[in-house]
Amino acid sequence: MSIHWFPGHMAKARRQIEEKCKQVDIVIELLDARLPLASRNPMIDEITGHKPRLVLFTKGDMADESLTNEWISYFTQLGVSVLPIDAKTGKGVPKIASTCEEILEPLFVSRKKKGIVSKRMRAMVLGIPNVGKSSLINRLAGRHATQTGDRPGVTKAQQWIRVGKKLELLDTPGILWPKFEDPDTGMRLAMSGAIKDDILPTEEIALYTLKYVSFHYPKLLEERYSVVIQEQTPVELLDEIGKKRGCLMRGGEIDWDKAADIVMGDLRSGRLGRITLESPSDYEEIGNEEND
Ligand code: G4P
Repeated sequence: MSIHWFPGHMAKARRQIEEKCKQVDIVIELLDARLPLASRNPMIDEITGHKPRLVLFTKGDMADESLTNEWISYFTQLGVSVLPIDAKTGKGVPKIASTCEEILEPLFVSRKKKGIVSKRMRAMVLGIPNVGKSSLINRLAGRHATQTGDRPGVTKAQQWIRVGKKLELLDTPGILWPKFEDPDTGMRLAMSGAIKDDILPTEEIALYTLKYVSFHYPKLLEERYSVVIQEQTPVELLDEIGKKRGCLMRGGEIDWDKAADIVMGDLRSGRLGRITLESPSDYEEIGNEEND
C-alpha cells in the first residue's frame, strides 16, 4: 500500500498555522478518541512553536471507553492535559475554558509581574480534517457568540468568538495534515474516514477493518451482521456480509464495493458499536522493537 500527500499542500497548511499561532496564548488540539496518535501530526510541537496546549479527544462517544481511559493516562503521563468531548451533544465542552485557565496559570503569573492583571485567553482550534473542528467551534460559538474583532472599516481575515468571560477563540481552525510513514497508521486513518476513499480503495479498507474488528471486537461484528466469525478470513466475511445484505450484481455475484460501503458506513457512523482503532500498547511494542 502506498499513500501520497503533497509537499506544497503541507507547506501552505504549516504557514497558515504558524501565522495563527502568533495570535494566540493556547492551542486546542483535537485528536480522534478512536485513534489519538494516528490522528496527531507528529510535528505538532515544531509547528506550534511549543505553545501551551490542551488536547481534546473528539468522538469519544464512538470510542471504546476502556481504551479511552488508557489513552487519557498515556497522555497524562506525558504531561499533556486531555479532555474527552462529544461536540455533537456538547458533553465535556463546558470544561474547556476552565481547563485552559489552569494550563495558562504560569502565563497569568508572568503577566501579573509585568502589571497586567487580565486573565483573557486567546485560543485556536487545530486538527486533521474531519476530526470535529467545525462542530466544536459551532458548539462553542453557540447562539450568543460575540465576534469581538468585528469593527467597521477594518478589513480582517479573522474573527474572534467569545466563549464565556475569559476565552476568545479564532473562528477558523488550523488544519493539520495527517502524517504517517507506516501503513498501519495510514489504514487507521482510512478506517476512521480521515483519508478520502479515493486515495485507497474502500474494498481494501473494508478488508482491513474486518480483520481488525473480528480480532478485537468479534461480538460486535457477529451481532451486527449475524455472521459466525470462527476461522473465516476477511474475504469470506465480506462475501457473507454481501450475501446477507443482498449486495448482488447481475449473474448473482457479490457486489464487493457495495458490501465494503456497508461495512465502512457502519464503522464510521458508530452503528457497528464503540470501536477504538489503536491502543497505547500498539506503540509500546513499536518502541520496544526499536530499542532492541
Ligand atoms: P472538521 O471541521 O475537523 O473537518 O470536522 P467536522 O466538525 O466537520 O466534523 C466531521 C464529522 O464528524 C461530522 O459528521 C460531525 O458531525 C462529526 N463529529 C464531530 N465531532 C463529533 C463527536 O464528538 N462525536 C461524533 N459522534 N461525531 C462528531 P458528518 O457526518 O460529516 O456530518 P453530520 O453528521 O454533522 O451531518
